[in-house]
Amino acid sequence: MPTFYLTTPIYYVNARPHLGHAYTTILADAMARYRRLRGDDVFLLTGTDEHGDNIAQVAAKAGVAPKAYADEIAADFQKAWDELGITYDRFIRTTDADHEAVVQKILQKLWDAGEIYLGKYGGQYCFGCERFYTEKEIVDGKCPDHQRPLTYIEEENYFFKMSKYQDWLVDYIRRNPDLIRPERYRNEILGFLRDPLQDLSISRPRTRLEWGIPLPFDAKYVTYVWFDALINYVTGVGYPDRPGFKERWGHVQHLIGKDILKPHAIYWPCMLKAAGLDVFRHLNVHGYWRIGGGKMSKSVGNVVEALGLTKKYGNDAFRYFVMREMVFGLDADFSEEALVGRLNADLANDLGNFVSRATTLIANLAGGRLPAPGEPTAAETGLAEAWRKTRAAVDAAMEEFAFQRALTSIWEFIGMLNRYVDTEQPWALAKDSAKHGRLGTVLNALGRALHGLGIVLAPFLPDASAKIRGALGMAGEPRLADAEWGPPATGTTIAKVSGLFPRVDVEKTPGTAESKVTAEPAHVAIADFRRTELRVAEVVAAEAVPKSKKLLKLTVSLGDEQRTIVAGIAEHYAPADLVGKKVVVVANLEPAKLMGVESRGMLLAGSAGTTLAVLTVDRDLPAGAKVS
Ligand code: MSP
Repeated sequence: MPTFYLTTPIYYVNARPHLGHAYTTILADAMARYRRLRGDDVFLLTGTDEHGDNIAQVAAKAGVAPKAYADEIAADFQKAWDELGITYDRFIRTTDADHEAVVQKILQKLWDAGEIYLGKYGGQYCFGCERFYTEKEIVDGKCPDHQRPLTYIEEENYFFKMSKYQDWLVDYIRRNPDLIRPERYRNEILGFLRDPLQDLSISRPRTRLEWGIPLPFDAKYVTYVWFDALINYVTGVGYPDRPGFKERWGHVQHLIGKDILKPHAIYWPCMLKAAGLDVFRHLNVHGYWRIGGGKMSKSVGNVVEALGLTKKYGNDAFRYFVMREMVFGLDADFSEEALVGRLNADLANDLGNFVSRATTLIANLAGGRLPAPGEPTAAETGLAEAWRKTRAAVDAAMEEFAFQRALTSIWEFIGMLNRYVDTEQPWALAKDSAKHGRLGTVLNALGRALHGLGIVLAPFLPDASAKIRGALGMAGEPRLADAEWGPPATGTTIAKVSGLFPRVDVEKTPGTAESKVTAEPAHVAIADFRRTELRVAEVVAAEAVPKSKKLLKLTVSLGDEQRTIVAGIAEHYAPADLVGKKVVVVANLEPAKLMGVESRGMLLAGSAGTTLAVLTVDRDLPAGAKVS
């Protein structure tokens, strides 16, 4: 059985759980669930980072001892993860006795091996980050993270001889191209390693900082935050000799946000090397959520509020949104409006609608029992083939933590299923007794699709997928190996599922930005609508409009004429992707000049959140065909 060991960062207990923490933890949970579904032996570690100045300071402000403060916030994190259904195997706290013992053990080992020395250090220190900043990193005399002035501090401290590992580390990263991924972060680290690496200060005098783990070889000092924190990853699975440690450590992958790239990509491999431990298999790095355009700051309450949306819209919808909206490794904007957009479009319309249609059709046209299939036509073999491809695409995407790609593939398949129902029209087949064999084939295919989705969606939408499996009477833990395009057996009872994801009527949430989105439109008389001339057009050529980020200049054919249309879709489509597409345009729109280019007509596109899709026709129609 393959082993899979995944960690999240351990979160500081100076802030309540918020969107940022939840994002990483949800990704880790979805990945752990996916690996369990594949049959791997999975261990998921999360927890809290509890020592250091910051925590001592907030505890003092609150008038409680640091440990009491940490107890409260650690419990908050555990509660948040339990409410979100996070399937972690251990919640580690840096105040756990086994962790303190392991940190001391490793410190002693490195001290004995001459890897640690006492030296003097002076530098610009940020109390927010609990670290010194180099001249190069300081922005306008301030900490680049907290935008607060730094304090010059000089003190005697213990240092880890990190500099001696520089060449080894560069070489190791070069020889393991997927060690740090996505690649942009690997490049960032290799870039950083072009400058000489400093030794790492690993202690603080107890006179300044009491709240930490004492150095075993000098009780006047405690370890400094990163040395303590990073070691949690080995404590968590029983370093040095608890059962399973060796096996798990050999397969460890870390998941972090880009803010803590350096400690993980530089300090940690050097520490591991010095301690005689293998370097992690992969460091997977994701981007940052922004709220309202700015970098999400820890002090801003809206990040906590954002996490509250799980209660308003449900865990599944929240999970889906964060996984689908953010390209792994890049930053993205978070908004309630975009979340509702995805909930309504992808979950209610696409998935919810399919599940409700499929189960209702089987209930109404086959008495709720799955009919036997007849001879498949190209439509069914097409579905079977698409399902095989979808599963392969999901597998490949999950290998790289590309959650967005995995979900996009599944949703392309769901789109295909909805089109299959539209085209095959089982309700019409039911009316003609000569077509009942065909009806059985179609309903059987819908049953197969429900079965497959009930399994493959499990890591992403645990609650909704369980409802689908429940409707099919699938008991026990789902297994990916069962997600073939074959079962369920003929005669299986399938219950109706309606309202898997009810559409959110945003008008019910007055005062929010999105209440504008569905303000009841004034009715349009059919005669007025008919005055708009909609036509199918073929894109013959496409190019960017110079100096514009948004505009593309399209040359389209309307059959008997060609014209230029300027469309604001450059952020969503590459010009080459549009050529040859049959799109829908408003042909009789008043001409307008955009960035100096005359546009004669308008391209139609739909959008939800940050996704935009150009309208196309799903059967071949000649360019110029009327749309009504
Ligand atoms: N305690 C250290 C980590 C030690 S790991 C050995 C720490 N804690 S933290 O509470 O600040 O958590 C940082 C992590 O929270 C980020 O790496 C990321 O996983 C998550 N996020 C916090 N804010 C975030 C966003 N705005 N967006 C996405 N994730 C972010 O650093």
